Amino acid sequence: PWSRGLMMLWAGVYVSLCLFLPCVVHGEKVLVFPMEGSHWVNMKILIEQLHSRGHEITVVRSNDSWYIKENSLLYTSITVNFPSGFDENLISDYVSKLLEIQRQGKSAWMRFNFEIENTQTGLEIHRKCSQMVQGLMEDEIKMKFIRDSKFDLILTDPVIPTGVIMAHYLGLPLVYNVRWATLGEAHLSFAPSPLSYIPLTGTMFSDKMSFFERVVNVLVYAVGYMQISYCVSPYQGLIEKYVGPDEDYFSIFLKADIWLMRVDFVFEFPRPTMPNVVYMGGFQCKPAKPLPQHLEDFVQSSGEHGVIIMSLGTLIGSLPHDLSEEIAAAFAKLPQKVIWRYTGDKPSTLGNNTLLVEWMPQNDLLGHPKTKVFVAHGGTNGIQEAIYHGVPILGIPLVFDQPDNLFRIDERQAGKTVDIFTMNRDTFYESLQEVLYEPTYRNNMQRLSRLHRDTPVNPLDNAIFWIEFVMRHKGAAHLRTESYKMPWYSYHSVDVILFLGVVCFLTFICILTTYYQHKCLKLQTKKEK
Ligand SMILES: *[C@@H]1O[C@H](CO)[C@@H](O)[C@H](O)[C@H]1NC(C)=O
Ligand SMILES: *[C@@H]1O[C@H](CO)[C@@H](O)[C@H](O)[C@H]1NC(C)=O
Repeated sequence: PWSRGLMMLWAGVYVSLCLFLPCVVHGEKVLVFPMEGSHWVNMKILIEQLHSRGHEITVVRSNDSWYIKENSLLYTSITVNFPSGFDENLISDYVSKLLEIQRQGKSAWMRFNFEIENTQTGLEIHRKCSQMVQGLMEDEIKMKFIRDSKFDLILTDPVIPTGVIMAHYLGLPLVYNVRWATLGEAHLSFAPSPLSYIPLTGTMFSDKMSFFERVVNVLVYAVGYMQISYCVSPYQGLIEKYVGPDEDYFSIFLKADIWLMRVDFVFEFPRPTMPNVVYMGGFQCKPAKPLPQHLEDFVQSSGEHGVIIMSLGTLIGSLPHDLSEEIAAAFAKLPQKVIWRYTGDKPSTLGNNTLLVEWMPQNDLLGHPKTKVFVAHGGTNGIQEAIYHGVPILGIPLVFDQPDNLFRIDERQAGKTVDIFTMNRDTFYESLQEVLYEPTYRNNMQRLSRLHRDTPVNPLDNAIFWIEFVMRHKGAAHLRTESYKMPWYSYHSVDVILFLGVVCFLTFICILTTYYQHKCLKLQTKKEK
């Protein structure tokens, strides 16, 4: 009898396997158009997760790609033989130029030069990207492969619009992994964004602006709009050819089904949003794993003082040499141990408490109980990890969105920012001391950490759910507003206001004429009497 039971059991298992396996194993096909640098680090997390759930991933990369490898166990790649526009030399030159300009001191002239440099590099990058899109579109073999593969979804980081144009062209559902889009912060492209309380990136304003700050905020918007319109002009021909004659760079973005936003309102100022936006800020954060033995030994050797870790992110391995000397000298004075991710020449002032490493397991170090302070440049990834682990930040912002990101941490008193261009070893040392020994910083960061972690669903699971949702339903058009089809005057009801104005005016004129006619008539009848 037990053998019969066993057989029944096996039959049961077999039936349930047949019933349920297909849903698990049958993966969908995802075409990914990623972005370079730290953006790829983010995209890769989504790719890993999609891969582990049985989906088939194809990644489109450029042959000069810097981070995105051709061969991977996670995806197959399509390599386009055109430069991506984000080659390592161009970006490092750009960053060094921006640093150089900023070191000349804060002035209107500095700002002007800064913006000129930004615009020129922006144009250069977008010109190369547009050539890459053109190259891919004209490559019949690759395009045939893409069409024949019958992808279910395009996943892209829309800093460059390759994936967006392709999704329009192939008529595929589109999901963004995004924080930056056309006009800077992506919300500005799709959600109502009153400039009265939404500070623009680069202004370092909070959501409580004075009148003059609001004036500056509006001016920054206008200048930014003009700059970007100029930078993205190389795409116009492509968009007209492959998307539609009435479309432009700004309108094509709004067709996305879901925006997976790398934004967390624990960190960002609250603002209006849209139903097809899914917030996944901090989706890359995970509990710390044990450190490699040599690092663990080093960390433990710090004793009760603990360790400080420093990283300037994926773009900037080494600082201008004199700045590194100052920072190393300040570190040397501390009783703490320091782990510094650094690739330049060894500073002469380096203390024996400081370990220089080319790469470090940042998340595992941030999650280590001995870590006291994170010295960071203020990239979103690092800040989110610091929030997740509740480690206060000493910020040294360099370029891009970094000053604004760190300003948000300052606002919440969960860290302190120093101006790298004017600091010296003493001021840096004092700021470090403050963040180390003033408990409010740590307490506030721990509070942000508790807020961030207190959610019903883990942000990564949520993001994956929505990607699969779009694939199941072949899009999510029901969540998208109709605003993307509207010209600006309809969007802002300018036409309606004009119409109502004219109606009021005409009514007023009618009343006035009737009144005077009536009066004249009365006068006439009086005279006649
Ligand atoms: C990429 O391909 C183009 C065209 O074949 C070639 O000219 C270029 O040197 C390649 N770039 C790299 C980095 O291999
Ligand atoms: C590190 O440097 C300090 C001061 O220069 C010195 O007192 C100490 O012995 C050194 N420690 C080691 C392990 O070399």
